Amino acid sequence: MPWLQLVLDAEGQDPDRLAQWLEGQGAVSLSLQDAADEPLYEPPPGATPLWSHTRVTALFESDHDLPATLAALAAELGALPPHQVLRLEDQVWERVWLADFKPLRFGERLWVVPNHCAPPEPTAVNLRLDPGLAFGTGTHPTTALCLEWLAGADLDGRTVVDYGCGSGILAIAAALLGARRVVATDLDPQALIATRENAEQNGVADRLVLGLPGHVSIKPADILLANILAGPLIALAPTFSTALTPGGRIVLAGLLADQAEEVAHAYRSGFTIAAPCCREGWARLDGIRL
Ligand SMILES: C[S@@+](CC[C@H](N)C(=O)[O-])C[C@H]1O[C@@H](n2cnc3c(N)ncnc32)[C@H](O)[C@@H]1O
Repeated sequence: MPWLQLVLDAEGQDPDRLAQWLEGQGAVSLSLQDAADEPLYEPPPGATPLWSHTRVTALFESDHDLPATLAALAAELGALPPHQVLRLEDQVWERVWLADFKPLRFGERLWVVPNHCAPPEPTAVNLRLDPGLAFGTGTHPTTALCLEWLAGADLDGRTVVDYGCGSGILAIAAALLGARRVVATDLDPQALIATRENAEQNGVADRLVLGLPGHVSIKPADILLANILAGPLIALAPTFSTALTPGGRIVLAGLLADQAEEVAHAYRSGFTIAAPCCREGWARLDGIRL
């Protein structure tokens, strides 16, 4: 069945109220998106922050009287917000999503390969992954920056910590690239479930120690990666400093390029921090424990 898609610019309106109103008019699906280019990154579990400039997309069945809905909306708001109507042909949407998720290469030797694809380089290190609820498929620049670092590192026999593991992508990559032991932790229990499943699928679960922060020991570690947010990265500097052995490596991501100096400053008393590596407005900081 085809669908009618109404895309509304919610500037000056409460996007939640607008979405509720459209639902009352018979919208079968609603989504709120960033109408500008404002990064909203990793909200805490349960929080649903919105962008300051939000676009509301509503899907209606093809026989819905959209002109009547638009007229009612104009009466409700006093004027119609900028909008667009599209007719969508029916598709198997899960397949459309999967079709966009293609094998990705990081550095010289690491591939992240979705389960529905054959590995482009069967002899490379191939991490098999399906998009799930937890963050981390390799498509986000912060994850990509960490995977590239891992692909270029000597991990043989090392103990690696993945702090804020999400899907477990960094922990599993570290194990596949030679780490002897990997500790993965996340404050979201769903992430721990995803990490366990993904590690089992990649045959590295026996080298993985998994648990909520504070429930697993992260020390002593040779390498610690944390792709979380600037605020928690700054707060966790003393914890990470204690966890790493002298000469150990730290990799921090999840910060915006303009937050790099503030985060680096929090680490300089215990680490030599290199210049940030930036991509699409995001930064990665690498350091060596003094
Ligand atoms: C941006 S995702 C990164 C996931 C994966 N490591 C990657 O690189 O794609 C951040 C993850 O860190 C978790 N997280 C955020 N703050 C945390 C904290 N203070 N302690 C532990 N986990 C945290 C979130 O629940 C989320 O799963």
